[in-house]
Amino acid sequence: MSRSAHPAGPRHADVLTEGHYSAPAADLNALDEKVWSRTVTRDADGALTVGGITVARLAEEFGTPAYFLDESDFRARCRAWADAFGPDADVFYAGKAFLSRAVVRWLKEEGLNLDVCSGGELATALDAGMPAERIAFHGNNKTVAEIERAVEAGVGRIVLDSFQEIVRVAHVARRHGVRQRVQIRVTVGVEAHTHEFIATAHEDQKFGIALADGQAAEAVRRALALDGLDLIGVHSHIGSQIFDMAGFEVSARRVVQLLAEIRDEHGVELPEIDLGGGLGIAYTSEDDPREPHEIAKALSDIVTRECEAAKLRTPRISVEPGRAIVGPTAFTLYEVGTIKPLEGLRTYVSVDGGMSDNIRTALYDAEYSVALVSRTSDAEPMLVRVVGKHCESGDIVVKDAFLPADLAPGDLIAVPATGAYCRSMASNYNHAPRPPVVAVRDGEARVIVRRETEEDLLRLDVG
Ligand code: LLP
Repeated sequence: MSRSAHPAGPRHADVLTEGHYSAPAADLNALDEKVWSRTVTRDADGALTVGGITVARLAEEFGTPAYFLDESDFRARCRAWADAFGPDADVFYAGKAFLSRAVVRWLKEEGLNLDVCSGGELATALDAGMPAERIAFHGNNKTVAEIERAVEAGVGRIVLDSFQEIVRVAHVARRHGVRQRVQIRVTVGVEAHTHEFIATAHEDQKFGIALADGQAAEAVRRALALDGLDLIGVHSHIGSQIFDMAGFEVSARRVVQLLAEIRDEHGVELPEIDLGGGLGIAYTSEDDPREPHEIAKALSDIVTRECEAAKLRTPRISVEPGRAIVGPTAFTLYEVGTIKPLEGLRTYVSVDGGMSDNIRTALYDAEYSVALVSRTSDAEPMLVRVVGKHCESGDIVVKDAFLPADLAPGDLIAVPATGAYCRSMASNYNHAPRPPVVAVRDGEARVIVRRETEEDLLRLDVG
């Protein structure tokens, strides 16, 4: 996942033998708009503001660590995706990236649909008023109880992930006297250029039904034969944090080929294809993500071209971006605690959170940026590793970065692009209460997911 491997920072660089770090930015106070959400800026005193509120005020009111989500940026990104794909396509926000009732309401208001992959996500979506027909239900091991709830609620589609599930969903639908709209998730055999654990369309993994050996065609045969199912299309998701469109193009081509084979064998043209999510975002200045309109054009061009070649009606396309919508809209605010310079190595900067609020660095070797945000500084750059407070040496938030050498305990630092897969993958390791998510918009900040308390932790402990 590492994209940057640049030599030489001014301090300690000669002894650094591992890790990937860029040369320090010319101005450590500058905020690269690629990694910060849209309303982030510095005020006249040099403090970072989001939605017009300074981090000092946010820290005082909501504490640290905390995630601050730029609501107008989130909404703007929803609109950008919806506009890019237009009325003949559907955008499903992938709720696993981050889901809360407020998020569901924003999605609903901005015209997006929602992809859920568990009973909990489904419950949140329904509770916050997302119309069931705008929900897609995913997962490689949906329980029968989850399938029951999805069918009862009337979700717009269930994405079938295995032969057993085809039978399970058909059975539940028949019992409820309905024909459930379904798609079949196929694995198209593309190796996405990303971390192994988040690449999902090569064949040796748990998701989907393989295209290569005729398994997908057999799944289609079975689904078409069952009267509880209304097969509306085929689904492919090739992985996450992908920048190269080539994988999506191969995937789209293979999915269209399958539609042509289905037409030839069964005389039916399935009306929809879903090309999944996985579009990359900028975590550091090295990353160059595509804009939604470029992605939409690349995907629709390839589908249109392939369909013309196969003499198929162009199906309705859907996509499922999660990270690309919510990822860039939030940052995590930490207070600096212990600072430990290791002579000849690097300086360890400990913050009041860590792997419990961002597991991605430990899990995927993910790269993040970090900035001093409570003030500016003209001090020289110092090579740091930002670490958490957990009892684990792998508890790293930002592996290699530069912060000003006058950094001191009590300063606030922020890690941008933590909107996706940070709060949603947060844990209570070391009995850390999980941080709140605070939505900021037009000078107002409000908690949308409150901070856990020690009482919350003790309430579950009934022994
Ligand atoms: N659709 C399906 C079927 C998926 O499995 C996923 C992600 C998405 C859409 C959304 O992908 P996105 O656009 O957010 O990349 N925890 C990992 C990512 C795992 C993604 C799992 N599925 C991470 O932190 O990078």
